[in-house]
Amino acid sequence: MGEVDPDALLRLAITAARSGAELAVRRRAEGIGEVATKSTDTDPVTAADRAVEALIVREILDRRPDDRVLGEESGASRGPTATGVRWIIDPIDGTVNYVYGLPFYAVSVAAEVDGRVVAGVVRNAATGDEWTAVRGGGAWRSGRRLAGSAVASLDRCLVATGFGYAAADRAFQAGVMTGLLPRVRDIRRFGAASLDLCHAAEGLVDAYFERGLNPWDHAAGGLVAAEAGLVVSGLRGEPPGLAMVVAAPPAVHPDLHALLVDLGADRGPSGDSERAS
Ligand code: IPD
Repeated sequence: MGEVDPDALLRLAITAARSGAELAVRRRAEGIGEVATKSTDTDPVTAADRAVEALIVREILDRRPDDRVLGEESGASRGPTATGVRWIIDPIDGTVNYVYGLPFYAVSVAAEVDGRVVAGVVRNAATGDEWTAVRGGGAWRSGRRLAGSAVASLDRCLVATGFGYAAADRAFQAGVMTGLLPRVRDIRRFGAASLDLCHAAEGLVDAYFERGLNPWDHAAGGLVAAEAGLVVSGLRGEPPGLAMVVAAPPAVHPDLHALLVDLGADRGPSGDSERAS
C-alpha cells in the first residue's frame, strides 16, 4: 500500500462535493419529483439523493478506482481496499430540509485511511458555505481557521441535537430532552447532522449531540469539529457512533457527557442502523 496524501484526498473530496451540491440545487430547481421513504414513513429519499451520490462516487472512482466507498444510498463496496482508502458519502444530509426548501442541507464527503478519517468536507448546498479539515491541519471555513466556542459552563450552552426517524426512538429522545432542557441555555434542531457538527466547530452553537447517527452523517463533520478543538466522542469511553455522538468544547464536554450518561441518552431503542450492502 503506497503513501496516501490527505491533502490530495481533501482536494478530491472538495471537487466531488461541489459537483454534488451543484447537482442537488439544480435538481431541486427542476422539481423534487416523487419522494420515496426508507427506514420509516418519515425518512425521505429523493431521486436527487441517488443521482448526487452516483455523481460523487463516479468522480472519486474515476480518479481513484481502487478505493472503497460507503454511501448513504448505495451502501458499502464489497471486498478489501487495495489502497486503504474508503470514502464515506452523504449525498444530501438533511433530506427533509431539502424537500421543504429549508436552506440547511449538505453534501458530506470524508476520506478514511485504514479506518481513520483523515480528510473531510461538508458543503451546505443551499448557501455554498463549506467546511473542511485534514487530520492534524485544523478546521477551516472560507480561509478562516475555526476554534469552536469559548463557553465555560453547561448552563450557558446552546446545544444542537437531532432525532431519529423511528417513533420509538423519538419518544425516547423526547424523554432525554426533558432532562436536558432545564440544564442548558437552549436547544436547536436544524435537521442536518453534518451541519450541526460544523456549526459547533464554528461556535454558531456551543455543542452538539445525537443518538442514532450513521457514519455518513458524522464522518466529515466530526473531523471538522475535532480539528476545531472540540472533544468528539461517544459516551462511557466509546468512540462516536450509532449509540451517541457528542461534540463539545473541552471546558464543557465532561459536564455534558456526565448529564447524557445520567439520562441514559445512549441506551434507547434504535430503529435506525447502518445499511451496508
Ligand atoms: C438525517 C439528518 C438529521 C438527523 C438524522 C439523520 P438524512 O440525515 O442528519 O439531522 O437528525 O439522524 O438521519 O436522513 O437527512 O441524510
